[in-house]
Amino acid sequence: QRPTLIPLLALAGALSAPAWAQSDPMKQAQGLFKPLPTQPPAVPGNPASPAKVALGKMLYFDPRLSESHAISCNSCHMVGMGGVDLQETSLGHRWQRGGRNAPTVYNAVFDVAQFWDGRAKDLEQQAGGPLVNPIEMDATEKHVVEQLKGIPGYAPLFAKAFPGGEAITFENVRRAIALFEATLITPNAPFDRYLRGDARALDARQAQGLALFIGKGCAGCHNGINVGGGQYAPFGVVERPGAEILPPGDKGRFAVTRTVSDEYVFRVPSLRNVALTPPYFHSGKVWDLRQAVAVMGNSQLGAKLTDAEVDQITAFLGSLTGNQPQVTLPILPPSVATTPQPKP
Ligand code: HEM
Ligand code: HEM
Repeated sequence: QRPTLIPLLALAGALSAPAWAQSDPMKQAQGLFKPLPTQPPAVPGNPASPAKVALGKMLYFDPRLSESHAISCNSCHMVGMGGVDLQETSLGHRWQRGGRNAPTVYNAVFDVAQFWDGRAKDLEQQAGGPLVNPIEMDATEKHVVEQLKGIPGYAPLFAKAFPGGEAITFENVRRAIALFEATLITPNAPFDRYLRGDARALDARQAQGLALFIGKGCAGCHNGINVGGGQYAPFGVVERPGAEILPPGDKGRFAVTRTVSDEYVFRVPSLRNVALTPPYFHSGKVWDLRQAVAVMGNSQLGAKLTDAEVDQITAFLGSLTGNQPQVTLPILPPSVATTPQPKP
């Protein structure tokens, strides 16, 4: 039996739980999901300080970390636009397209692992990836450090964020960025208010959608604090979608574990703010959230959802849009004559 399906069984258990749990939709939802905290969570092994978060924000927005000096983390994960780029697959170094849709960085701190295939265990490990990816930012670890040392204004900022010892290191770049990312959370969505006990936070259609989301089995995979992000599952449990949505070349988690049962297994994405982040799926092939919901019904549950059901579930997903982070653009330390220059 697949470990990825155990939570489905757990859900079945939850559904056959005491009768009162079924008769009270709010209690049932509270057992499956958790509201987002209103304050950024602590990151294990990476203690927060205002200096470190401020530095991480600068690095997140600084395009000089890329070989071309044209691409920053924010190029593909735009703050103010759901933490995504609204592209099928992202445009990176020299206008190259990557192979997967860029997921949002918002609330990523709550996911079990990073990337569609979970190949990075946390944000800190993840942040090293794009910097040195030839089709994303195309730098090297050594160059990132040289570049930052070549911008004199960074030295005191690193020293303050990482007191004692060598401060400008690739590891510290990753740490600071990860800590800034942990502040990009979207609390107080209508659904969070509902989970905290406000029955009127969802309108009638959203409440019907929530009941379907639980009753049809979506919550077997999309559950917990991020309404997803907590486990892996095959894309196509019941029926594998066609190549136009699931291109056969990307076998997902198989590339990480080399285990045949992990072919076409992906991390179940968080559905928080999903209304803001088209296009959908790792392939970015579906632009309409209603269509994504219908595809999921077929592929994961073998349930042909009616148009009305799709509408209701989509309305419920709209209740997952929370307060978007308000980020003031950092003023970056200036380049000087000796700062390494962009490479075309
Ligand atoms: C994935 C952050 C730069 C495109 C991710 C994830 C995070 C992240 C946290 C995982 C999200 C998740 O799995 O839910 C960053 C940071 C960057 C950066 C901190 C700067 C250092 C970029 C750039 C691009 C990009 C410049 C586009 C050229 C992507 C794509 C994925 C991704 C396509 C998914 C890749 C996969 O799953 O294989 N990024 N990103 N990122 N990012 Fe970025
Ligand atoms: C992706 C909704 C059931 C596993 C998605 C996405 C949506 C969604 C909107 C796209 C998210 C994005 O691209 O940002 C639903 C709904 C369901 C449902 C409404 C019930 C009708 C399930 C179930 C499972 C599951 C039961 C696990 C067995 C996944 C996975 C993906 C996904 C693995 C990523 C697929 C990929 O792009 O590779 N879901 N889901 N979903 N869902 Fe579901």
